[in-house]
Amino acid sequence: MFLALIILCISIPFSSTGKIDHWSVGSIIITDPTTQFRLDIYSPTTPGSYPVLIFLPGLAGIVPSPFYHKLVSTIAELNVILIGISKIENIKPEKVAVHIAEFLEWVVKPDDGATRLFAEHREVKGVIPNMEHLGFISHSSAAHPLGQYLNTTCGPVKLIIMMNPVDGIDPFGFVQDFITHPPTPLPFRTPTLIISNGLDNVPAHKEIPPCAPNNISNDRWYRSLYGPTFLVNLTDYGHADNLDEPIHETSKLMCAWCKGTICSFSQYKTEEATLITSFVYAIFNRDIQQLRIIENPQAFLESRVSNKYDLHGYDYKTGGPGGFCTHD
Ligand SMILES: *[C@@H]1O[C@H](CO)[C@@H](O)[C@H](O)[C@H]1NC(C)=O
Ligand SMILES: *[C@@H]1O[C@H](CO)[C@@H](O)[C@H](O)[C@H]1NC(C)=O
Ligand SMILES: *[C@@H]1O[C@H](CO)[C@@H](O)[C@H](O)[C@H]1NC(C)=O
Repeated sequence: MFLALIILCISIPFSSTGKIDHWSVGSIIITDPTTQFRLDIYSPTTPGSYPVLIFLPGLAGIVPSPFYHKLVSTIAELNVILIGISKIENIKPEKVAVHIAEFLEWVVKPDDGATRLFAEHREVKGVIPNMEHLGFISHSSAAHPLGQYLNTTCGPVKLIIMMNPVDGIDPFGFVQDFITHPPTPLPFRTPTLIISNGLDNVPAHKEIPPCAPNNISNDRWYRSLYGPTFLVNLTDYGHADNLDEPIHETSKLMCAWCKGTICSFSQYKTEEATLITSFVYAIFNRDIQQLRIIENPQAFLESRVSNKYDLHGYDYKTGGPGGFCTHD
């Protein structure tokens, strides 16, 4: 298949903190004009090679990464490159999974993809996206197309992180369309971190269901994944509390949020970023110190957490097998 890349809009520069840079590529077309993406790239600017996370935000990319500004910039400050994909014209998981497949095929191309995005952006001169250390991160119902993609192939993905993963199509579970059927194993094994929230299953208002009902969310994924699987639950926070204002305020119409003096949304997003980057470095660098943060998060975080993990027989005593994905 001939893959053409057309960068329609000139990349839009954003202010840089000096340590990191965020730029976006307005529209990127792979193969044909029905496959379009907007990319938001968050990267350290200090020359070096860094692991890469591809981010599919909530509602299969309808909510673009800049709405998660604090979270995604903190991830880059902690030395992980994040490439957010959005503006996908279809939210059906089967369709989005095809888009993910085409995007991943493109992004790892040695003379194209992420390598080219970085080579053409002078603020990140000397920064190398390490495509051997590639992970995928999702929020909310974006977990479904990711699961759908991995149900077919691992592709270049070597670990996954799912924030508040929902199966089905919408976060509420109105449309019943599932990729997980616990305890039936999904046909792939890859190191996985699930981050859930205590208020995922709590309705924001009397008349509406919670944003991530228990029976289609978090544990449903935890019980379907048979690689090394870690779950950290930030118990005081809600499904959309990792979004920034003003969209966070809007999300309160639908999703329960942290209330009272215990809440610090800034601290929460910093800690969520810390969990994410610690996991990336724990897995890819086989770093036992970083793994401790995932195995015993309360010792490292201010926010209240509960957690569990199931290594499913994988040995992490001396750092584990690194990033991997195997398929049945
Ligand atoms: C997932 O993969 C299994 C086989 O490994 C297949 O039977 C099933 O139909 C797939 N599910 C979907 C929704 O594609
Ligand atoms: C997260 O914590 C809340 C509050 O303790 C609990 O109700 C919920 O079941 C937990 N979720 C998971 C996935 O463990
Ligand atoms: C989840 O629970 C809700 C409320 O009890 C129910 O309406 C729905 O059918 C359940 N969904 C599944 C997939 O079990």
